[in-house]
Amino acid sequence: MEGMLIVANWKAYVDTQDKAKKLCALAKRLSTRIKRVKIVLVPPAPFVGILAKNNRSKVRIGAQDVSATTVAADTGEITAQTLKNVGAQYVVIGHSERRKRGESDADVVEKVRRTLSVGLTPIVCVGEKERDQDAQYLRALKEQISAVYAPLSVPERLKVVLAYEPIWAIGKTGEEAIHAGDLTEMVLYIKKVLTEFLMGKSVEKAVILYGGSVEPENIRALAGGSGVDGFLVGHASVDEGMFSALVVALR
Ligand code: PGA
Repeated sequence: MEGMLIVANWKAYVDTQDKAKKLCALAKRLSTRIKRVKIVLVPPAPFVGILAKNNRSKVRIGAQDVSATTVAADTGEITAQTLKNVGAQYVVIGHSERRKRGESDADVVEKVRRTLSVGLTPIVCVGEKERDQDAQYLRALKEQISAVYAPLSVPERLKVVLAYEPIWAIGKTGEEAIHAGDLTEMVLYIKKVLTEFLMGKSVEKAVILYGGSVEPENIRALAGGSGVDGFLVGHASVDEGMFSALVVALR
């Protein structure tokens, strides 16, 4: 296993500064101990600046969403520039929990562009709702990936981190997550789809994450040989014991 990227998507689980700081301190300790793992913490928006301030560790801070706009008269929006100004380096875009609330592929593309234009790294989530016998889910996934990559320029495409998150596997227990063999197949399939948008070697360099019920018990099996470059971790990233155990499991 090469170096692994762990993106801790805290969702709305963390609601106090105290808890945010504790989890951040833990991530910092883990990142000094386990050198091959790079941790990106993705807290709720109000904590982004707090955690990024004076951060001299290897831990990086990201946001869970970004505005598709840059205009100033837009109440409630958080622009990519604002996120950059408070020290974020990554932005999760198109998470299924945002898409469920009406975010479209076109919104996702716009958000990716805004994010890249200020020099932040977009982590774009894609993933099928369910599996079917006729493998329609493969087509659905391909359409989702194409909808994001096609409008982007090649230099933009190269900077996207792609997170494969099958919706049926999100928020379950590790036992209900994808199996390692299936993940290997999906990573190959995603790379095949990406060959339409990226040239030869850059497909191999594309960073592909898996998300959906990653826990200490399954992370090693999912990492070994599947071809993923890391994980987007939800519920297990806000439990100190689980989070340490899953990072240590990648040692
Ligand atoms: P989960 O969430 O690890 O709780 O399944 C993953 C995600 O939605 O990013």
